[in-house]
Amino acid sequence: MYNFGVPVQLKTWFDYVLQAGRTFRYTASGPEGLVKGKRAILLIATGSVYSEGPTAKADFMVPHLKQLLAFIGITDVTVVRAEGLAFGPDAAKAGLEKAAAEIRTLKTA
Ligand SMILES: Cc1cc2nc3c(=O)[nH]c(=O)nc-3n(C[C@H](O)[C@H](O)[C@H](O)COP(=O)(O)O)c2cc1C
Repeated sequence: MYNFGVPVQLKTWFDYVLQAGRTFRYTASGPEGLVKGKRAILLIATGSVYSEGPTAKADFMVPHLKQLLAFIGITDVTVVRAEGLAFGPDAAKAGLEKAAAEIRTLKTA
């Protein structure tokens, strides 16, 4: 997360990937995602904590990423957060370990 949103490098990647006629199309009834049968895993690193508490409402990144993915047809999205990474070495270690533990439980298919 950079400044509550998606880092520009990742935004640029989506700007290339979201292309009408390739990954989505416009129909008479609205846009349709063309990426079928895929899932996405979002590995999110943040200095602060957004999974709960007063700062949760400042997470504009995960909703944005989910919207971008849904627009091309990917609605099966798992979010793994490594958070609190700026709250000192102990918090950073705990945040990374929690994320690593979650990653180990993910099913590959
Ligand atoms: C330019 C910049 C902006 C950042 N903005 C936020 C922010 O809004 N909220 C937050 O929790 N962390 C913020 N951080 C901390 C990063 O999210 C955190 O360091 C993360 O681990 C960076 O991932 P990376 O090393 O893959 O770039 C920011 C870091 C940078 C360099």
